[in-house]
Amino acid sequence: PFDWYAEMREDHPVRYDDHRECWDVFRYDDVDRILDDPETFSSDPRLASTIDLPPEDEQSPIMETMLLTDGDRHDRLRGVVEDWFRPRAIAGRAARFEEIAADLLDDAVEGGRMDVIDDFAYPFPVIVIAELLGVPSEDRPQFRRWSETLVETPTDTSEAATEAYQERQQEASEELAEYFEEKLDARAREPRDDLITVIAEAASEDRLTHEEALGFCMLLLVAGNITTTNLIGNAMRCLTAHPTALERVRDGSVSIESAVEEVLRYRSPVQALARIATEPVELRGTEIEAGDVVVPWLGAANRDGDVFADPGEFRIDRAPNPHFGFGRGTHYCLGAPLARMEARIGLNALFERAADIERRGETLQPVRSAFIYGVEEFPIEFRP
Ligand code: HEM
Repeated sequence: PFDWYAEMREDHPVRYDDHRECWDVFRYDDVDRILDDPETFSSDPRLASTIDLPPEDEQSPIMETMLLTDGDRHDRLRGVVEDWFRPRAIAGRAARFEEIAADLLDDAVEGGRMDVIDDFAYPFPVIVIAELLGVPSEDRPQFRRWSETLVETPTDTSEAATEAYQERQQEASEELAEYFEEKLDARAREPRDDLITVIAEAASEDRLTHEEALGFCMLLLVAGNITTTNLIGNAMRCLTAHPTALERVRDGSVSIESAVEEVLRYRSPVQALARIATEPVELRGTEIEAGDVVVPWLGAANRDGDVFADPGEFRIDRAPNPHFGFGRGTHYCLGAPLARMEARIGLNALFERAADIERRGETLQPVRSAFIYGVEEFPIEFRP
């Protein structure tokens, strides 16, 4: 999409997409302004005049989460788990995450060939979040199906396809809600040291409604998996395409943390967000009406030459690197410290076990989603 972004930043920095019925926004300054002003640019899809939502009693509990609410309600929801996701709290679990990575990789590296996605980048974050939530990681084939269905965006926009897609989403959402309903009940009776207990307790003290508690679990399971999978996959894609960069990371002359930040900028796992204008507003000379959907393209802003020197170059020591890979403002990714640590631990664990890593195969199958960016498979070969 990067050539298209460059063209749009230059010629149509704010433009209306008649087909998807939204405003696309491509420049860094404009994206910054939108994310910085949640009162004018809301995260609540119910305010959109062009989105048809099911009736309220049929809506997914995901609608009742911090991601899709604003103001005091957003802050109340986010406050329930904020302490759990702080860098220091996450850092305290590093040893366990290293163990999980080691278990997966010790098997996967045998034979000198693996698929980065299936063998590692997918299971690793799922096992981590399953442990934090307190659900059995053996259930992960189901998690994958549910998560993929929920982030899928249809390419076929015919009525029949749209209907089938909405049905799939509804079904996945219902199954997921049912799954967590049972877990929340169990933890309310028998608390443990996990996130579901934190959420069940908040619900029993009326700090969360029942729907909010369910949505919370669903959001935490879905938000961090496909994104982190793609961060690790995209990192391997960048580093195998730039062998000198890979060498510098391996010999420690550039930190893995710095390289991961550049991956977040250069191949951002989340390429676009959505906001709803709450009042008429002018953006770069264009009038936007209340109820209009506005799409800030993080992936385009992250390659804006007004902010990043040589934006099309992958530079692992770029500093400063004020990318929007995790968004910005009040909705800034709650899981950013966790995702960063997973990427660091996961990549280090892989580099410790595999030398002379090279990509196998020529073609890459992109993830089927308009706003998630990554590849379905990434086969490599190496010296174990
Ligand atoms: C929000 C990206 C991993 C949980 C966000 C947002 C972005 C993002 C761009 C902003 C959404 C918006 O403004 O509308 C990413 C990327 C990840 C990642 C690229 C991995 C590389 C995680 C993980 C978790 C997580 C591991 C936790 C389990 C959340 C939550 C929000 C969020 C709960 C909503 C925050 C709010 O509305 O206040 N993420 N994320 N994310 N992320 Fe992540």
